[in-house]
Amino acid sequence: MKILEVQHLTKDFGGLRAVDSLDLDIEEGEILGLIGPNGAGKSTVFNCVAGVFPPTKGHIYFRSEEISGRKPWDLCKYGLARTFQIVKPFASKSVLYNVMVGAFAITAKTSEAREKALGVLEYLNFEDRKDTRAGNLTIADRKRLEIARALATEPKLLLLDEVMAGLRPAEVDEMVAIIRRLREQGVTIFVIEHIMRAIMALSDRVVVIQFGQKIAEGLPQQVAADENVIKAYLGEEYAVS
Ligand SMILES: Nc1ncnc2c1ncn2[C@@H]1O[C@H](COP(=O)(O)OP(=O)(O)OP(=O)(O)O)[C@@H](O)[C@H]1O
Ligand SMILES: [Mg+2]
Repeated sequence: MKILEVQHLTKDFGGLRAVDSLDLDIEEGEILGLIGPNGAGKSTVFNCVAGVFPPTKGHIYFRSEEISGRKPWDLCKYGLARTFQIVKPFASKSVLYNVMVGAFAITAKTSEAREKALGVLEYLNFEDRKDTRAGNLTIADRKRLEIARALATEPKLLLLDEVMAGLRPAEVDEMVAIIRRLREQGVTIFVIEHIMRAIMALSDRVVVIQFGQKIAEGLPQQVAADENVIKAYLGEEYAVS
């Protein structure tokens, strides 16, 4: 069953067409990678899917229901969560508090939110940081907090926007393992990432966009060998060598 279907998605910012008639879908339980050069429109796709802004044109279906134009909080309660490329926790609040904010999407009871948040922190091997102020976390730990906040909403579909940017290689490996484990638990994952090693290791399928348009789609190894992708994304130097 398709958990997400995006049809002819177009998003304009004034005169700029950031996403241009994009079609894609994700099967339940799949990990779909979305790659493309800087400014290709990847985060804009996420923003439209997660309800941050309405599409200019096109349709988005989540679990067969049209969600175009619905608000993030509403979608979150419905099982669609995202992380932000620019991590913005409540810096003066504790890690636990920040994760509880996520959990309030699924419960109004503080005790339940706390329990849910503690469970997620434990799952991510992060419970030793629960009392740390979010503003004092390292980059790697902030990324982990972003995932924890999203997970506390019990998503069926999780959108991860560059959660590995700025991480050291060992931290990238750890994040890849965390994301795999999430999928094993039944969470469908839509992931934007610039670190090719990670996207190749994680994705069942990869969609490549450039100037808001899809230029390739397929298995990771197919996409990595595609001439258009090599030119657009990996740079001409790869194409000629
Ligand atoms: N809120 C906004 N208002 C105006 N223009 C925007 C907005 N968000 C994105 N854009 C523009 O839309 C285009 C696509 O941006 P987007 O952030 O989606 O790219 P991206 O593929 O995520 O890039 P990166 O890899 O650098 O994160 C860019 O030209 C960007 O400047
Ligand atoms: Mg982006």
